[in-house]
Amino acid sequence: MNQDELKKAAALAALDYVPDGAIIGVGTGSTVNHFIDGLATIKSRIAGAVSSSEASSARLRAHGIALLALTDIDELPVYVDGADEIDGGFAMIKGGGGALTREKIVAAVARRFVCICDASKRVATLGRFPLPVEVIPMAVRHVARELTALGGRPQLREGFVTDNGNLILDVHDLVISDPQALESTINQITGVVTNGLFARRGADVLLLAAAGGVERLER
Ligand code: A5P
Repeated sequence: MNQDELKKAAALAALDYVPDGAIIGVGTGSTVNHFIDGLATIKSRIAGAVSSSEASSARLRAHGIALLALTDIDELPVYVDGADEIDGGFAMIKGGGGALTREKIVAAVARRFVCICDASKRVATLGRFPLPVEVIPMAVRHVARELTALGGRPQLREGFVTDNGNLILDVHDLVISDPQALESTINQITGVVTNGLFARRGADVLLLAAAGGVERLER
């Protein structure tokens, strides 16, 4: 199986975690796109979806899946999303697609975070994938200096604007020995909207696809 087939296998396994009649939190990315396509096959069983990006909203809409606003909802039973890296404690780096802020908001409202990945995303220590940080545009130079002081090498994602109208700094070379602490530290920098460490609220279930099948791991 190639990587895209593995992503699809993990995504379709997540359909088992979709309760009847529920509103589902939906992430962003190529793995989630397979999940959305799978969700379309059982759309009569769900009440709708809350989306984490304009891209996922467009795909959900194209399938005729009802979109609901998070401002009208107090709790979601489940949030399904991919990751760029996930460690043994189910802490993640996310935001390769730039949707990290809305992803973190929808995930915060969900009782259960189901992470769908191909096996290449599993790492012992986070940080080989550059950490995305969403930044208010006028603060970009200030935030870059602060991230450099933390030992990182921030690079502006050229030509990219988030769904919230902000910029992304991709931070290379960070030593992420304590993901929860670093998540908090970076969030304290004035001008940072969110960073792509999902450690304080990590995944609860990991569906990890490899050639031998989809492994289902729970925290
Ligand atoms: C989107 O902003 C990200 O958080 C994605 O969830 C992550 O980049 C995984 O993407 P793929 O499923 O495309 O690998």
